[in-house]
Amino acid sequence: TKDILVLAIETSCDETSAAVVKNGREVLSNIISSQIELHKLYGGVVPEIASRKHIEKINQVIEEALSSAKVTLEEIDLIGVTYGPGLVGALLVGVAHAKALSFATKKTLVGVHHIEGHVSANYIENKELEPPFLCLIVSGGHTHLVLVKEYGEYEIIGRTRDDAAGEAFDKVARAIGLGYPGGPKIDKLSREGNKDEINFPRAQIEGAPYDFSFSGLKSAVLNYINSCEMKKVQMNKADIAASFQEAVVDVLVTKTIMAAKDFHMNQVAIAGGVAANSHLREAMVAACRDNGISFYYPSPVYCTDNAAMIGTAAYYEYRKGTRSGYDLNAVPNLKI
Ligand code: KG4
Ligand code: ZN
Repeated sequence: TKDILVLAIETSCDETSAAVVKNGREVLSNIISSQIELHKLYGGVVPEIASRKHIEKINQVIEEALSSAKVTLEEIDLIGVTYGPGLVGALLVGVAHAKALSFATKKTLVGVHHIEGHVSANYIENKELEPPFLCLIVSGGHTHLVLVKEYGEYEIIGRTRDDAAGEAFDKVARAIGLGYPGGPKIDKLSREGNKDEINFPRAQIEGAPYDFSFSGLKSAVLNYINSCEMKKVQMNKADIAASFQEAVVDVLVTKTIMAAKDFHMNQVAIAGGVAANSHLREAMVAACRDNGISFYYPSPVYCTDNAAMIGTAAYYEYRKGTRSGYDLNAVPNLKI
């Protein structure tokens, strides 16, 4: 059978990315132009700046993706693009570009759900991974426990009631003066701290065993910092970081393992920016091993936003029969 080449585009937040993916799992190129340095100045992503930067970069990023894959636009079979969820102005840049390319070249257009992209990142390096499996998605905007029943077929069994896991990392990092984005900085600083020093709360939600809540934990950290300041005691930032991270990881791992057992899933995967967290990865490896579960996770570059994962998701959506028209629009609050 003929190879299927996907040109994928991702602009949902602050990364302008384009990739060429062959037959769903082989990444020929994955170009990521990050705006982090720009948004750092403001302590978080500024939507208007993100949109403008995407417009400046997108042509160059797409051209680079094609040239480094040594593929011409004519050889591409389909164009996959993230159409939600995300920042509306940012999403629109990718969607408009994908539609224009599709119109000019008569190539098939496939709109991709950003979260489905994160899940699909696991297919890139784990050639043996196939549904069904349980996936924990932890990013800056999302915290979901999802049953992946088939390619492109999902059932959400748990979600956050308030802050996303990555959001909690970013807010705590800001509170202890680590800057944006906080996740990687807390990850690094935690290695110098004692994770058992401060006992931060692990939220349980009555009647919803697979749901998450991180706002109470965030408040507990802020209160701890305030009380240190009031008592004029020197706070140990590394201990705070390590104890906070331990509380997040503990809840994520415990609930994921519980769900895997309850739903009889012997394969578990993680996805999203927080899946790059070294402590989460280590703790999941150990917990899955102890429970006889096969564990899968993407390399850090495929955890945070990238177009390769969108190319993989587009391929499986295409095989399922999904086609998008020129009326494809950005859907900022798109549901899975
Ligand atoms: O998936 P992603 O790139 O964007 C969204 O779709 O939201 O995730 C970004 C989030 C940020 O909150 C960032 O702080 C977090 O992922 N993150 C991490 C790590 N690397 C990125 N959190 C904890 N540990 C890390 N190593
Ligand atoms: Zn993302």
